[in-house]
Formats: sequence, structure tokens, C-alpha cells
Amino acid sequence: MIDSKVTLAGVELKNPIVVPSGTFGFGREYGQFFDLSELGAICVKGLTPQPREGNPSPRIAETPMGILNSVGLQNPGVDAFIAGELPELKKHDVKIIANISGNTPEEYGGMCEKLSAAGVDMIEVNISCPNVKAGGLAYGTRPELAAEVTEIAKKNSTVPVMVKLSPNVTDITEIARAVEEAGADAISLINTIRGMRIDVNTRRPILKMNTGGLSGPAVLPVAVRMVWETANAVKIPILGMGGVSKGTDAAELMLAGAAAVAVGTASFADVYAPVRVRDELFALAERQGLAHISALTGAAQPW
Ligand SMILES: Cc1cc2nc3c(=O)[nH]c(=O)nc-3n(C[C@H](O)[C@H](O)[C@H](O)COP(=O)(O)O)c2cc1C
Repeated sequence: MIDSKVTLAGVELKNPIVVPSGTFGFGREYGQFFDLSELGAICVKGLTPQPREGNPSPRIAETPMGILNSVGLQNPGVDAFIAGELPELKKHDVKIIANISGNTPEEYGGMCEKLSAAGVDMIEVNISCPNVKAGGLAYGTRPELAAEVTEIAKKNSTVPVMVKLSPNVTDITEIARAVEEAGADAISLINTIRGMRIDVNTRRPILKMNTGGLSGPAVLPVAVRMVWETANAVKIPILGMGGVSKGTDAAELMLAGAAAVAVGTASFADVYAPVRVRDELFALAERQGLAHISALTGAAQPW
């Protein structure tokens, strides 16, 4: 039997398959299809200090091999999550990662304090949401702001802090190094890539917000490249994501340097995608004669 355990920011996951923020809600719906304890970790929908209704519809547009979304951080707020959702999630044998977005460094700090006290296993700091006006992407595209948010998150957390990077930058390694120096315990990437579609008959953008974020199989090569570059630039572990829908996709991200892999948009077409990807990944690793799944991490052989 292959050893399925991996470690991410000092937290042991029973397997490297994670569901990323915003594609799995708080697990209630998917939990009707499979046992959430099958997953390595669940990263919950992005939380903000106050409840948010998100952006107006339409906020999802189909694209070849993916989707564009402009959901805009719809969520019940951090307090309602702690009171209503976290106790349900804790009934499962799965690590819980709380994803947070703020408008100011202080908002990030306040949420870290509350979520650490509430007993989540890790905090993922989202500095990369392309669908909100304030904060969000601004923090993820400027190294000094990314570092500032990381520092305040670390100062206010008693659990490991992972920082989620945006692919909407010229040099991902600049931001990765800045958050590592500021004390991040891990890095996750990629968030969605900014995109736009237009209805040729109405001549209106399909999304009400005009632009949105691209995810799904179309973005996999960008994710592999960015995980690869980041892994060569920092020492902290990486949670890789972006377009994973098969075991071989997950293996690619691990070979590029990811310690664990998240399966997001694929769940919209196949609710069993995260467990199927896990099984396909382990079948591949077994065929290759590996004793530990973690042996894939960073094992790509560059030319
Ligand atoms: C509908 C939707 C909502 C999302 N919401 C969030 C969010 O709240 N916070 C966040 O950090 N990322 C969010 N993301 C980004 C995903 O977590 C992930 O980084 C991205 O979709 C790439 O992975 P995938 O191609 O496997 O979906 C969202 C993605 C989608 C499709």
C-alpha cells in the first residue's frame, strides 16, 4: 500500500486532495454524494467580516474547457460561518481551511483571530480575488501589500497561514518571495485568470460585472507553469490548483512542485471529481512503483 499522507504547512493531510475555496461551498451539498472524510482538506468559500450577497447575475459564463465567474465573494460572514457551518464540518475527519478576504489589513487580522480561536486547521489568505473592487487583487499584485497582509495574518493567527496568489501578474516569484519573507507557512495558487466574453447578438458582456475569472481545464498549463516557477523560488510548501480534472493533472502539479492539489471547477461537471482524481492519482503512483505519494512533489526533470 502506498503511503498517502502529505504535509502542508505542518498540517498532516490523509491524502493530497483538497477542494478549493468557492467551488465546494461549506460541503453540505457535496456531502450528500460522498463522505467528506475521503478528502485531505476542505477549503471553505471565501469569508469576509460581514455577510455579502455577491455580484448581480449572470455571474457564470461557460467557456471552452472552463468557466468564467464573477460571484464576488457571496458568503454569510465569518461569525455565521463559525456558529453555523464550522460545527457541521468538524463532524468529519477532514482538515478545515478557512479562506478569508478583507478590504484592509486589519480586517484580515480580525478574521484570523476569530478563526484561530474557533479551531480551523489552517487559514488561507486570499489576496487574489479578481471579482471585488476593494482589496482583493490589489494585495495580490503588489509585493509590499502582499507582505503587509501576510504579516498581520501571521501575527493574529495561532494556526498555519497559507497565502493564495493571483496568476494576474507578470512575475509570480516576486509575490511568492515577498509572502515567504513575511512569514507565510505555505502558498496556494492559482486563483482565476481574468477574462471576458461578449454575446455577439446583444453586444453585451455575458457577465453582469463585464469581466470575471477563468477556471477549469483551460487554465491547467498556466497553473503548472506558475507552480513550477514558485517552487523554484521559495522553500515553503505549495498547494497547487487550476484546471485539475484527472489524476494525471494532479500528478503534473505535484511534479511541478505542489505538496497537495485542489480540484475545483471539475466538481461542477462531476460531483465525484475530487475522489475520482484521488483514485486516479494513486493508481498512477502505484503503477510507477512509488512508496509515498509525496515522492511526486518536485520530481519533474527539467531539460
Ligand atoms: C465559482 C467560483 C468561486 C470561487 N470563489 C473563490 C473564493 O471565494 N476564494 C478564493 O480564494 N478562490 C475562489 N475561487 C477560485 C478557486 O478556489 C480556484 O483557485 C480556481 O477556480 C482554480 O481551480 P479550478 O480550475 O480547479 O477551479 C472560485 C472559483 C470559482 C469557479
